[in-house]
Amino acid sequence: MQYVIEGGNKLFGTVEVCGSKNSVLPLLAASVLTDCDVTFTNCPQITDVFNMIEAVRSTGKKVTFLGDVITVSGTASEFSVTKKASLLRASVLLAGSLFGRLGKAELPLPGGCNIGARPIDVHVDGLRSLGANVTCDDSLKLDGKAKGGEHFLRVASVGATENLLLASVLADGETHLHNCAVEPEVVALENFLTKLGAKIDGIGTSDVTVTGVRSLGGAMWKVGSDRIVAATYVCAVLATGGNATVKNCRLDELGAFSDVILRSAELRQVGGDVVVNSLGKTKGFGYVETGPHPMFPTDCQSLLLSLASVTCGDTVICEKVFENRLKNNADELTKMGAKIRLQGNVAHVSGTKLFGETTTANDLRGGAGLVIAGLAAGGKTVVKNVEHVMRGYPDLHEKLSQLGAKIILVN
Ligand code: EPZ
Repeated sequence: MQYVIEGGNKLFGTVEVCGSKNSVLPLLAASVLTDCDVTFTNCPQITDVFNMIEAVRSTGKKVTFLGDVITVSGTASEFSVTKKASLLRASVLLAGSLFGRLGKAELPLPGGCNIGARPIDVHVDGLRSLGANVTCDDSLKLDGKAKGGEHFLRVASVGATENLLLASVLADGETHLHNCAVEPEVVALENFLTKLGAKIDGIGTSDVTVTGVRSLGGAMWKVGSDRIVAATYVCAVLATGGNATVKNCRLDELGAFSDVILRSAELRQVGGDVVVNSLGKTKGFGYVETGPHPMFPTDCQSLLLSLASVTCGDTVICEKVFENRLKNNADELTKMGAKIRLQGNVAHVSGTKLFGETTTANDLRGGAGLVIAGLAAGGKTVVKNVEHVMRGYPDLHEKLSQLGAKIILVN
């Protein structure tokens, strides 16, 4: 499938942000830990969520998804996860929850976006330190009895932190985790597990202590807004020189992304919404380096690369998390006339006027970045392979159309 965009229209109006993909996926993995009912509201209807639901179902849990509400019930009785789980990265989180719940897990190796090597060594090392015997060849297999311990994560990995939290909440004894990721989605998982009855100290910090409990209860949980989807709308509006209100968006959650945007445009918190105004300013964004939270999020890098390509002035973007992400999009944007000089994982960008071209999405946020460039470019842009984009955005073209964009989805 592809998006066809007629660029050059300023975006105006109001757009609402959906629930967070990267939050709901670990929450679904956590639902396997309890026999009680769990209900999540504000869930996005996207491919990654559909595939994660299939993976959770394959453990024996019952899952319904109606509107934006996912309900999970029943008992996980099956340790072997469907091969379809290989379609997404977050399925690896079922290793922690099945090991914690059943003492056994077998999963296909996780897939996900082609943005770098994405090893799972930090997950595996951590799970071993919690008592798992792990083999990882054609599939990931774990068995053993989860027990507390002390573990320092070599990298503050989001997924590995989540996996270790999931493996430790039902373990025997205390688990001390150091160098944990502190992304808002990790904090949401910690808070959700606590609501189910888990005992977690140090929530939101890099040193977390989990005291194992015998069982967990049920809960209702509203999934937080997707900060990367919000950032996508902000960049789309600014790239076209428009102004708009992004509903369900918090500047404190946008963190370093909003600090960078504020160098060249206006973002204002008004109640639960953010007002975006391009102000007609014409400077670039200076130096930006991606890193783990609270640094500038790698997921926003492709969005900023497109925005910087059309904003007069200079921006230097250094991608430090995923090695393929910058090059994927720099090549596509260059076809559209972008002035990007790549030096390894550093892009020197001089803003200019882009022209429409046929481009290819290589990954989820990269695809969204190309849409942003297409909206700002003169003439027609085609973005191919938007299946990648649909993994994370429920209705990107419809939301952008509400803001006045000329964009259609073509089979
Ligand atoms: C999560 O991926 C997100 N995915 C990604 O979002 C996001 O880009 C990333 O965190 C960083 O913020 C989900 O939450 C489902 P990591 P994850 O483990 O957990 C290295 C999107 O577009 N590493 O924190 O896979 C790794 O190579 C997606 O929505 C190891 O070396 O990311 C990377 O350089 C894409 N060994 C760094 O750590 C490991 O075992 C951070 O990766 C694990 C990671």
